[in-house]
Amino acid sequence: MCGIVAVTGYKKALPLLMNGLEKLEYRGYDSAGIAIVNSETKNITCNKAEGKLKNLIKNLNDKNMPGTVGIGHTRWATHGKPEIKNAHPHTNSSGTIAVVQNGIIENFQDLKNKLQKEGVIFNSDTDTEVIPHLIQRELNTLSKLNLDKNGSTLLVAVRNVISDLEGSYALAVLWADAPTSLVVARRQAPLIIGLGEGEFICASDTPAIANFTNIILPMEDEEIALLTPLGIEIYDSNNERQYRSPVSLKVSEQIMDKMNFKHYMLKEIYDQPETAKNWLKNYLIKDLENGQYQINYPFDTKFFESIERIEIIACGTSKHAAMVGKFLLEQFSGIPTNVFYASEFRYSPPPLLPNTLTIGVTQSGETADTIAAIDMEIKRRSSKEDKKFTPNLIAITNRKESSIGRQVLNIIDICAGIEVGVAATKTFFGQLLSFYGLAIKFAQIKGTQGSDEIDKLITELIKLPPLIEDLLEQHNESSEKLAHDFFNIKDVIFLGRGINYPIALEGALKLKEISYIHAAGYPAGEMKHGPIALLDKKVPVISIASPGQVFDKVISNAQEAKARDSFMIGIAPECNGTEIFDYLMKIPSSTEWVSPLLNIVPLQLLSYHIAAHRGLDVDQPRNLAKSVTVE
Ligand code: F6R
Repeated sequence: MCGIVAVTGYKKALPLLMNGLEKLEYRGYDSAGIAIVNSETKNITCNKAEGKLKNLIKNLNDKNMPGTVGIGHTRWATHGKPEIKNAHPHTNSSGTIAVVQNGIIENFQDLKNKLQKEGVIFNSDTDTEVIPHLIQRELNTLSKLNLDKNGSTLLVAVRNVISDLEGSYALAVLWADAPTSLVVARRQAPLIIGLGEGEFICASDTPAIANFTNIILPMEDEEIALLTPLGIEIYDSNNERQYRSPVSLKVSEQIMDKMNFKHYMLKEIYDQPETAKNWLKNYLIKDLENGQYQINYPFDTKFFESIERIEIIACGTSKHAAMVGKFLLEQFSGIPTNVFYASEFRYSPPPLLPNTLTIGVTQSGETADTIAAIDMEIKRRSSKEDKKFTPNLIAITNRKESSIGRQVLNIIDICAGIEVGVAATKTFFGQLLSFYGLAIKFAQIKGTQGSDEIDKLITELIKLPPLIEDLLEQHNESSEKLAHDFFNIKDVIFLGRGINYPIALEGALKLKEISYIHAAGYPAGEMKHGPIALLDKKVPVISIASPGQVFDKVISNAQEAKARDSFMIGIAPECNGTEIFDYLMKIPSSTEWVSPLLNIVPLQLLSYHIAAHRGLDVDQPRNLAKSVTVE
């Protein structure tokens, strides 16, 4: 989604902004722009381009943009098409104020109507453009008070404007009359200030900052700040000055390196053994007294004892991880669990039930719907006097420093390292592992599984890293070959049952989002209730058949598909029954419990190779964003 970079200091702003924007590309965008203020001439120069940053760079080649204070933006279209006129920065009519914004101003139409009645002419279809015009109006009013034309005056003007905005925003503002100052503000959209040497750089995400400094100050919700080369002033929504210490960026948040891989996505698929090792190292500890393994989540788990049910809130791939989590929490740990799309939960939450644990799952920690749904749940539970309704919260994320990290105290940080590819792979894997940890923890506390069963599961988890390494080695080339045959395919069906039904959904999502091939996942038993009508020899079926309680059923469902001439691909160990598959992607034998962690790997590889073979932008698929910070 949209990314913001803003800089003030003593160094030339242009290279700092461009470097920052490059690091935000992975979030997904369809146009970009920058504005820099020249402190000598007190002029703001803007440059914008449709499409990728290389177009903006081409535009800039013949332009001199001196100045040490500037703002930059990558735009993911919400209001208005991805055209130059809608690209940020947006300015007031005289071009003396420039604004970049991330988020959605929900009442922009009302504000725009009022401004138009006052004679303001708009040049874009965006919601953002109301902001510079409103700031201009405020500055006009403030000028009657004879305030100096400086950063503090701009701060007052921006504060007055944002109090009229509804919706979410992270924004950065330049004013030609205060040419060394920057004002930044956030509500429900991330903004982080980096403290560099001779410059302050503010951005939507840490990669844009990591090249300059590893000392950061994440802004809290509803804060506004004035940045000048001399320092930072941060204020909360009550206009109270905030003082707090900066924090260090973790090394994993600083590294964005493709190594020798062609795409980040492939590298990140290959990072999964490391993700497993990290999880095991961080969260599995052996009790020296009794030799038993314990899950060592970094919060007090005493409240687990009173938990009677669980609700999980997530979107997209994270929801698929949550569905595997539901299976484990119900079938392994015996706790009734429901999974909700965050976007649905917000507007139709279930009736409140007591003693509930709410789990938010989001790799980015910034998904607007997930953050808002958790916020709503905290509020409606906190409004009850009965202690049984107290919000009990856990968040599973890869970005501890994100919005969910500040919203929820109990964090399971999946420590997968930064994921650049828009398609989630290693973070999905880390989310799955987090649920195995929760299921083991609950089973131990509630006594729903004997210690043998728990030990068996833990032993399998410990063996994961080399197993995943083998799977990668075994399937990378073969899935590349298979991708050649699938190159022109139009539809693919994914089937799974039980704990592997969410893996069928995830396999289908991975394929469609990066290869633009239509794919759908179904519980295998549901095929005959409708989707089987889609099948013929042009529609391959990928069937996940892990030995366990539903193995025979999945094989018979696969037979039904084969009888309709579909090319059948099996994700299964080589065993009786799997000979019906035209092509078998072999999986090592395991219990059904851990099978999702193995089955997902060849599906990720196959999607990757199909998209790469089609010559598509695998890491930044069209229309998609890594951090979905709007509703
Ligand atoms: C798919 C994908 C998306 C995200 C979804 C939620 O590969 O990445 O479906 O899973 O946008 O994102 P997070 O996990 O950041 O809340």
